[in-house]
Amino acid sequence: MSYNIAVIPGDGIGPEIVREAQKVLDAAGKKYGFELKYTEVLMGGASIDVHGVPLTDEAIATAKASDAVLMGSIGGDAKTSPWYKLAPNLRPEAGLLKIRKELNLFANLRPAYLYEELKEACPLRDDIIGDGFDMMIMRELTGGLYFGERHTTEENGVRKAVDTLSYDENEIRRIAVRGFDIARKRRHKVTSVDKANVLDSSRLWRSVVEDVAKDYPDVTLEHMLVDNCAMQLVRDPKQFDVILTENMFGDILSDEASMVTGSIGMLSSASLNETKFGLYEPSHGSAPDIAGKDLANPIATILSAAMMLRFSLDLDEAADAIEAAVKQVLKDGYRTGDIMSEGCTKVGTVQMGDLIAERV
Ligand code: NAD
Ligand code: IPM
Ligand code: MN
Repeated sequence: MSYNIAVIPGDGIGPEIVREAQKVLDAAGKKYGFELKYTEVLMGGASIDVHGVPLTDEAIATAKASDAVLMGSIGGDAKTSPWYKLAPNLRPEAGLLKIRKELNLFANLRPAYLYEELKEACPLRDDIIGDGFDMMIMRELTGGLYFGERHTTEENGVRKAVDTLSYDENEIRRIAVRGFDIARKRRHKVTSVDKANVLDSSRLWRSVVEDVAKDYPDVTLEHMLVDNCAMQLVRDPKQFDVILTENMFGDILSDEASMVTGSIGMLSSASLNETKFGLYEPSHGSAPDIAGKDLANPIATILSAAMMLRFSLDLDEAADAIEAAVKQVLKDGYRTGDIMSEGCTKVGTVQMGDLIAERV
Protein backbone atom coordinates (compact mmCIF):
# COMPACT_ATOMS: atom_id res chain seq x y z
CA MET A 1 0.00 0.00 0.00
CA SER A 2 1.12 3.53 -0.65
CA TYR A 3 -0.12 6.77 0.97
CA ASN A 4 0.37 10.45 0.25
CA ILE A 5 1.56 12.44 3.21
CA ALA A 6 1.85 16.22 3.19
CA VAL A 7 4.84 17.15 5.32
CA ILE A 8 5.17 20.55 6.96
CA PRO A 9 8.64 20.85 8.46
CA GLY A 10 7.99 24.44 9.60
CA ASP A 11 10.46 26.54 11.57
CA GLY A 12 13.05 26.26 14.33
CA ILE A 13 13.43 22.64 15.42
CA GLY A 14 10.53 21.67 13.10
CA PRO A 15 12.66 20.38 10.19
CA GLU A 16 14.98 18.49 12.58
CA ILE A 17 12.22 16.60 14.39
CA VAL A 18 10.14 15.89 11.28
CA ARG A 19 13.19 14.35 9.60
CA GLU A 20 13.52 11.89 12.49
CA ALA A 21 9.81 11.06 12.39
CA GLN A 22 10.08 10.33 8.65
CA LYS A 23 13.10 8.12 9.33
CA VAL A 24 11.07 6.10 11.83
CA LEU A 25 8.00 5.97 9.55
CA ASP A 26 10.14 4.67 6.70
CA ALA A 27 11.60 1.97 8.94
CA ALA A 28 8.05 0.96 9.87
CA GLY A 29 7.06 1.01 6.18
CA LYS A 30 9.89 -1.36 5.29
CA LYS A 31 8.95 -3.76 8.02
CA TYR A 32 5.17 -3.68 7.53
CA GLY A 33 5.05 -3.32 3.76
CA PHE A 34 3.69 0.15 3.11
CA GLU A 35 5.13 3.20 1.43
CA LEU A 36 4.65 6.84 2.33
CA LYS A 37 5.05 9.38 -0.45
CA TYR A 38 5.90 12.75 1.03
CA THR A 39 5.06 16.13 -0.45
CA GLU A 40 6.70 19.02 1.35
CA VAL A 41 4.45 21.96 2.18
CA LEU A 42 5.62 25.34 3.46
CA MET A 43 3.90 26.89 6.45
CA GLY A 44 4.74 29.48 9.06
CA GLY A 45 7.94 31.49 8.80
CA ALA A 46 9.28 29.19 6.09
CA SER A 47 6.31 30.14 3.91
CA ILE A 48 6.53 33.84 4.77
CA ASP A 49 10.15 33.88 3.59
CA VAL A 50 9.18 32.43 0.19
CA HIS A 51 5.60 33.61 -0.44
CA GLY A 52 5.10 36.52 1.95
CA VAL A 53 2.21 34.73 3.67
CA PRO A 54 2.27 31.94 6.32
CA LEU A 55 0.07 29.57 4.29
CA THR A 56 -0.83 29.67 0.60
CA ASP A 57 -3.99 28.30 -1.03
CA GLU A 58 -1.80 25.80 -2.90
CA ALA A 59 -0.41 24.56 0.42
CA ILE A 60 -3.93 24.05 1.75
CA ALA A 61 -4.91 22.23 -1.46
CA THR A 62 -1.89 19.91 -1.16
CA ALA A 63 -2.75 19.15 2.45
CA LYS A 64 -6.39 18.49 1.55
CA ALA A 65 -5.42 16.16 -1.28
CA SER A 66 -3.20 14.05 0.98
CA ASP A 67 -4.12 11.10 3.19
CA ALA A 68 -2.74 12.88 6.26
CA VAL A 69 -0.47 15.74 7.26
CA LEU A 70 2.68 15.40 9.33
CA MET A 71 3.92 18.62 10.85
CA GLY A 72 6.85 19.87 12.92
CA SER A 73 6.22 23.26 14.45
CA ILE A 74 6.11 26.85 13.31
CA GLY A 75 7.09 30.22 14.67
CA GLY A 76 10.16 32.12 15.72
CA ASP A 77 11.51 34.22 18.52
CA ALA A 78 9.02 37.08 18.90
CA LYS A 79 11.77 39.46 19.99
CA THR A 80 14.27 38.91 17.22
CA SER A 81 12.47 37.40 14.24
CA PRO A 82 11.39 39.74 11.41
CA TRP A 83 8.18 37.67 11.09
CA TYR A 84 6.80 39.45 14.16
CA LYS A 85 7.08 42.85 12.52
CA LEU A 86 4.29 41.76 10.16
CA ALA A 87 0.58 42.25 10.79
CA PRO A 88 -0.83 39.52 13.09
CA ASN A 89 -2.69 37.80 10.23
CA LEU A 90 0.59 37.42 8.32
CA ARG A 91 2.65 35.93 11.15
CA PRO A 92 3.61 32.24 11.38
CA GLU A 93 0.90 31.28 13.91
CA ALA A 94 -1.80 32.59 11.56
CA GLY A 95 -0.83 29.82 9.14
CA LEU A 96 -1.38 27.16 11.78
CA LEU A 97 -4.77 28.55 12.78
CA LYS A 98 -5.75 28.78 9.13
CA ILE A 99 -4.90 25.18 8.30
CA ARG A 100 -6.77 23.97 11.41
CA LYS A 101 -9.84 25.94 10.35
CA GLU A 102 -9.66 25.14 6.62
CA LEU A 103 -9.36 21.41 7.28
CA ASN A 104 -11.99 21.58 10.04
CA LEU A 105 -9.64 19.94 12.54
CA PHE A 106 -11.84 20.53 15.57
CA ALA A 107 -10.70 17.59 17.70
CA ASN A 108 -7.21 17.83 19.14
CA LEU A 109 -6.04 14.76 21.02
CA ARG A 110 -3.06 15.23 23.32
CA PRO A 111 -2.15 12.07 25.23
CA ALA A 112 -0.17 12.73 28.41
CA TYR A 113 1.27 9.44 29.51
CA LEU A 114 4.07 8.82 31.98
CA TYR A 115 6.46 6.16 30.72
CA GLU A 116 7.67 4.10 33.65
CA GLU A 117 11.19 4.71 32.37
CA LEU A 118 10.73 8.48 32.74
CA LYS A 119 9.69 8.55 36.39
CA GLU A 120 13.04 10.21 37.15
CA ALA A 121 12.29 13.00 34.69
CA CYS A 122 8.86 13.68 36.22
CA PRO A 123 9.08 16.59 38.66
CA LEU A 124 6.41 15.13 40.95
CA ARG A 125 7.10 13.15 44.14
CA ASP A 126 7.12 9.34 43.96
CA ASP A 127 4.05 9.05 46.20
CA ILE A 128 2.11 11.29 43.79
CA ILE A 129 3.30 9.42 40.70
CA GLY A 130 2.40 6.00 42.15
CA ASP A 131 1.98 3.56 39.26
CA GLY A 132 2.02 6.42 36.81
CA PHE A 133 -0.76 8.14 34.94
CA ASP A 134 -2.29 8.15 31.50
CA MET A 135 -4.68 10.86 30.38
CA MET A 136 -6.05 12.08 27.07
CA ILE A 137 -6.58 15.79 26.73
CA MET A 138 -9.33 16.46 24.21
CA ARG A 139 -8.93 20.06 23.17
CA GLU A 140 -11.49 21.83 20.98
CA LEU A 141 -9.36 23.34 18.22
CA THR A 142 -11.38 25.48 15.83
CA GLY A 143 -13.46 27.71 18.10
CA GLY A 144 -13.28 29.88 21.17
CA LEU A 145 -10.93 32.80 21.72
CA TYR A 146 -8.62 31.77 18.90
CA PHE A 147 -11.26 32.32 16.26
CA GLY A 148 -13.48 35.01 17.79
CA GLU A 149 -13.60 38.56 16.55
CA ARG A 150 -10.66 40.68 17.71
CA HIS A 151 -9.51 44.22 17.26
CA THR A 152 -7.39 46.93 18.78
CA THR A 153 -8.54 50.55 18.90
CA GLU A 154 -7.27 53.76 20.36
CA GLU A 155 -9.43 56.49 21.87
CA ASN A 156 -8.07 59.67 23.49
CA GLY A 157 -4.60 58.13 23.55
CA VAL A 158 -5.83 55.00 25.35
CA ARG A 159 -5.33 51.72 23.51
CA LYS A 160 -7.92 49.02 23.87
CA ALA A 161 -7.81 45.41 22.67
CA VAL A 162 -10.76 43.04 22.40
CA ASP A 163 -10.81 39.26 21.88
CA THR A 164 -14.08 37.38 21.88
CA LEU A 165 -14.76 33.87 23.13
CA SER A 166 -17.75 32.28 21.48
CA TYR A 167 -19.02 28.74 21.01
CA ASP A 168 -22.23 27.47 19.55
CA GLU A 169 -23.76 24.27 20.82
CA ASN A 170 -22.92 22.28 17.70
CA GLU A 171 -19.22 23.04 18.12
CA ILE A 172 -19.41 21.87 21.72
CA ARG A 173 -21.47 18.79 20.94
CA ARG A 174 -19.14 17.37 18.29
CA ILE A 175 -16.04 17.60 20.49
CA ALA A 176 -17.96 16.22 23.48
CA VAL A 177 -19.12 13.23 21.42
CA ARG A 178 -15.50 12.56 20.44
CA GLY A 179 -14.44 12.84 24.06
CA PHE A 180 -17.04 10.35 25.27
CA ASP A 181 -16.29 7.96 22.39
CA ILE A 182 -12.63 7.98 23.37
CA ALA A 183 -13.43 7.56 27.08
CA ARG A 184 -15.35 4.42 26.15
CA LYS A 185 -12.17 2.92 24.74
CA ARG A 186 -10.24 3.91 27.84
CA ARG A 187 -11.22 4.05 31.54
CA HIS A 188 -14.75 5.40 31.03
CA LYS A 189 -14.29 8.77 32.70
CA VAL A 190 -14.63 12.29 31.31
CA THR A 191 -13.56 15.38 33.21
CA SER A 192 -15.07 18.36 31.44
CA VAL A 193 -13.07 21.48 32.25
CA ASP A 194 -14.58 24.95 32.08
CA LYS A 195 -15.00 28.25 33.90
CA ALA A 196 -18.76 27.98 34.36
CA ASN A 197 -18.65 30.11 37.50
CA VAL A 198 -17.83 33.11 35.28
CA LEU A 199 -18.28 32.52 31.55
CA ASP A 200 -21.48 32.12 29.56
CA SER A 201 -19.60 30.06 26.99
CA SER A 202 -18.64 27.67 29.80
CA ARG A 203 -22.19 27.44 31.09
CA LEU A 204 -23.33 26.45 27.60
CA TRP A 205 -20.39 24.04 27.41
CA ARG A 206 -21.46 22.36 30.65
CA SER A 207 -25.08 22.05 29.61
CA VAL A 208 -24.27 20.54 26.19
CA VAL A 209 -21.73 18.13 27.69
CA GLU A 210 -24.34 16.96 30.20
CA ASP A 211 -26.74 16.41 27.37
CA VAL A 212 -24.23 14.33 25.40
CA ALA A 213 -23.39 12.34 28.56
CA LYS A 214 -26.96 10.95 28.58
CA ASP A 215 -26.01 8.80 25.59
CA TYR A 216 -23.05 7.39 27.50
CA PRO A 217 -24.43 5.96 30.76
CA ASP A 218 -21.34 3.76 31.02
CA VAL A 219 -19.05 6.82 31.18
CA THR A 220 -18.68 8.86 34.36
CA LEU A 221 -18.81 12.59 33.82
CA GLU A 222 -17.40 15.13 36.21
CA HIS A 223 -17.06 18.89 35.81
CA MET A 224 -14.03 20.78 37.01
CA LEU A 225 -13.20 24.47 36.94
CA VAL A 226 -10.08 25.20 34.97
CA ASP A 227 -8.12 26.80 37.79
CA ASN A 228 -8.76 23.78 39.98
CA CYS A 229 -7.79 21.49 37.08
CA ALA A 230 -4.43 23.25 36.72
CA MET A 231 -3.81 22.52 40.39
CA GLN A 232 -5.15 18.93 40.29
CA LEU A 233 -2.81 18.08 37.40
CA VAL A 234 0.15 18.35 39.75
CA ARG A 235 -1.65 17.31 42.94
CA ASP A 236 -2.98 14.02 41.58
CA PRO A 237 -2.67 13.45 37.81
CA LYS A 238 -3.80 9.81 38.23
CA GLN A 239 -7.40 10.94 38.70
CA PHE A 240 -7.74 11.92 35.02
CA ASP A 241 -8.76 9.74 32.12
CA VAL A 242 -10.21 12.05 29.42
CA ILE A 243 -10.00 15.81 29.96
CA LEU A 244 -12.49 17.53 27.68
CA THR A 245 -12.05 21.25 27.27
CA GLU A 246 -12.20 24.31 25.04
CA ASN A 247 -9.42 25.66 22.89
CA MET A 248 -7.45 28.02 25.13
CA PHE A 249 -7.86 26.00 28.34
CA GLY A 250 -6.66 22.91 26.44
CA ASP A 251 -3.64 24.74 25.10
CA ILE A 252 -2.51 25.74 28.58
CA LEU A 253 -3.43 22.53 30.43
CA SER A 254 -1.72 20.33 27.84
CA ASP A 255 1.60 22.13 28.26
CA GLU A 256 1.26 21.66 32.00
CA ALA A 257 0.34 17.99 31.62
CA SER A 258 3.32 17.46 29.31
CA MET A 259 5.77 18.50 31.98
CA VAL A 260 4.49 15.96 34.46
CA THR A 261 5.25 13.29 31.86
CA GLY A 262 8.86 14.47 31.93
CA SER A 263 9.04 17.06 29.16
CA ILE A 264 7.04 18.89 26.55
CA GLY A 265 9.28 17.01 24.12
CA MET A 266 7.20 13.88 24.85
CA LEU A 267 3.69 15.22 24.13
CA SER A 268 2.29 14.13 20.79
CA SER A 269 -0.94 15.32 19.21
CA ALA A 270 -3.50 14.50 16.56
CA SER A 271 -5.89 17.06 15.10
CA LEU A 272 -8.89 15.39 13.49
CA ASN A 273 -12.03 16.31 11.58
CA GLU A 274 -15.18 14.22 11.05
CA THR A 275 -13.37 11.89 8.61
CA LYS A 276 -10.25 9.77 8.99
CA PHE A 277 -8.12 12.68 7.88
CA GLY A 278 -5.82 14.34 10.40
CA LEU A 279 -2.87 16.61 11.01
CA TYR A 280 -0.24 15.22 13.34
CA GLU A 281 2.20 17.41 15.19
CA PRO A 282 3.97 17.60 18.54
CA SER A 283 2.25 19.81 21.10
CA HIS A 284 5.33 21.92 21.63
CA GLY A 285 6.58 24.84 19.58
CA SER A 286 9.56 25.52 17.38
CA ALA A 287 11.91 25.98 20.35
CA PRO A 288 14.06 28.69 18.72
CA ASP A 289 16.40 28.56 21.73
CA ILE A 290 17.67 25.09 20.79
CA ALA A 291 17.06 25.04 17.00
CA GLY A 292 19.85 23.76 14.77
CA LYS A 293 21.82 22.32 17.69
CA ASP A 294 20.77 18.66 17.56
CA LEU A 295 19.26 19.09 21.04
CA ALA A 296 15.51 18.73 20.37
CA ASN A 297 13.67 15.66 21.57
CA PRO A 298 12.03 14.13 18.47
CA ILE A 299 9.84 11.70 20.45
CA ALA A 300 6.67 13.85 20.51
CA THR A 301 6.81 14.05 16.71
CA ILE A 302 7.61 10.35 16.35
CA LEU A 303 4.65 9.45 18.58
CA SER A 304 2.47 11.83 16.54
CA ALA A 305 3.56 9.95 13.43
CA ALA A 306 2.47 6.71 15.12
CA MET A 307 -0.96 8.27 15.75
CA MET A 308 -1.09 9.17 12.05
CA LEU A 309 -0.58 5.51 11.11
CA ARG A 310 -3.26 4.44 13.58
CA PHE A 311 -5.99 7.05 13.02
CA SER A 312 -5.63 8.05 9.38
CA LEU A 313 -4.06 5.02 7.67
CA ASP A 314 -5.35 2.06 9.75
CA LEU A 315 -1.79 0.76 10.14
CA ASP A 316 -2.24 -0.23 13.78
CA GLU A 317 0.48 -2.83 13.87
CA ALA A 318 3.09 -0.38 12.59
CA ALA A 319 1.85 2.26 15.03
CA ASP A 320 2.21 -0.23 17.89
CA ALA A 321 5.73 -1.04 16.71
CA ILE A 322 6.77 2.62 16.78
CA GLU A 323 5.34 3.10 20.25
CA ALA A 324 7.10 -0.04 21.45
CA ALA A 325 10.36 1.19 19.90
CA VAL A 326 10.07 4.47 21.82
CA LYS A 327 9.50 2.55 25.03
CA GLN A 328 12.44 0.30 24.30
CA VAL A 329 14.83 3.16 23.59
CA LEU A 330 13.90 4.68 26.96
CA LYS A 331 14.33 1.29 28.63
CA ASP A 332 17.76 1.05 27.03
CA GLY A 333 18.66 4.27 28.81
CA TYR A 334 18.90 6.75 25.94
CA ARG A 335 17.75 10.31 26.66
CA THR A 336 17.79 13.69 25.00
CA GLY A 337 18.76 16.57 27.29
CA ASP A 338 15.22 17.51 28.28
CA ILE A 339 14.51 14.07 29.81
CA MET A 340 18.05 13.27 30.94
CA SER A 341 18.62 11.70 34.32
CA GLU A 342 21.54 10.10 36.16
CA GLY A 343 22.97 6.91 34.72
CA CYS A 344 21.39 7.43 31.29
CA THR A 345 23.13 7.99 27.97
CA LYS A 346 22.66 11.45 26.52
CA VAL A 347 21.96 11.55 22.78
CA GLY A 348 21.06 14.20 20.24
CA THR A 349 18.04 14.52 17.97
CA VAL A 350 19.50 12.50 15.09
CA GLN A 351 20.83 9.67 17.22
CA MET A 352 17.52 9.39 19.06
CA GLY A 353 15.78 9.04 15.68
CA ASP A 354 18.30 6.39 14.58
CA LEU A 355 17.92 4.41 17.80
CA ILE A 356 14.13 4.38 17.56
CA ALA A 357 14.15 3.49 13.84
CA GLU A 358 16.50 0.57 14.60
CA ARG A 359 14.08 -0.76 17.20
CA VAL A 360 10.94 -0.59 15.05
P1 NAD B 1 8.21 26.03 22.77
O1 NAD B 1 7.35 24.85 23.01
O2 NAD B 1 8.77 26.19 21.41
O3 NAD B 1 9.44 26.00 23.79
C1 NAD B 1 9.27 26.09 25.21
C2 NAD B 1 10.50 25.47 25.89
O4 NAD B 1 10.47 24.07 25.69
C3 NAD B 1 11.82 25.95 25.30
O5 NAD B 1 12.77 26.05 26.32
C4 NAD B 1 12.21 24.82 24.34
O6 NAD B 1 13.60 24.69 24.14
C5 NAD B 1 11.62 23.61 25.04
N1 NAD B 1 11.23 22.57 24.05
C6 NAD B 1 10.16 22.61 23.21
N2 NAD B 1 10.15 21.53 22.44
C7 NAD B 1 11.21 20.77 22.80
C8 NAD B 1 11.73 19.52 22.35
N3 NAD B 1 11.14 18.82 21.37
N4 NAD B 1 12.85 19.06 22.93
C9 NAD B 1 13.45 19.74 23.91
N5 NAD B 1 13.01 20.93 24.38
C10 NAD B 1 11.90 21.44 23.82
O7 NAD B 1 7.36 27.31 23.20
P2 NAD B 1 7.71 28.88 23.04
O8 NAD B 1 9.15 29.10 23.30
O9 NAD B 1 6.71 29.54 23.87
O10 NAD B 1 7.38 29.19 21.52
C11 NAD B 1 8.34 29.26 20.50
C12 NAD B 1 7.66 29.45 19.16
O11 NAD B 1 6.91 28.29 18.84
C13 NAD B 1 6.65 30.60 19.15
O12 NAD B 1 6.80 31.25 17.91
C14 NAD B 1 5.31 29.93 19.24
O13 NAD B 1 4.28 30.66 18.65
C15 NAD B 1 5.57 28.67 18.48
N6 NAD B 1 4.70 27.53 18.83
C16 NAD B 1 4.30 26.74 17.79
C17 NAD B 1 3.55 25.61 18.03
C18 NAD B 1 3.14 24.76 16.89
O14 NAD B 1 3.68 24.85 15.82
N7 NAD B 1 2.17 23.89 17.07
C19 NAD B 1 3.24 25.25 19.35
C20 NAD B 1 3.67 26.08 20.40
C21 NAD B 1 4.41 27.22 20.12
C1 IPM C 1 -0.20 24.75 20.11
C2 IPM C 1 0.37 26.13 19.94
C3 IPM C 1 -0.54 26.98 19.08
C4 IPM C 1 -1.87 27.10 19.84
C5 IPM C 1 -0.01 28.38 18.73
C6 IPM C 1 1.33 28.33 18.07
C7 IPM C 1 -0.98 29.14 17.87
O1 IPM C 1 0.63 26.71 21.18
O2 IPM C 1 -0.41 24.06 19.10
O3 IPM C 1 -0.41 24.33 21.25
O4 IPM C 1 -1.99 27.92 20.76
O5 IPM C 1 -2.78 26.34 19.51
MN1 MN D 1 0.37 25.38 22.85
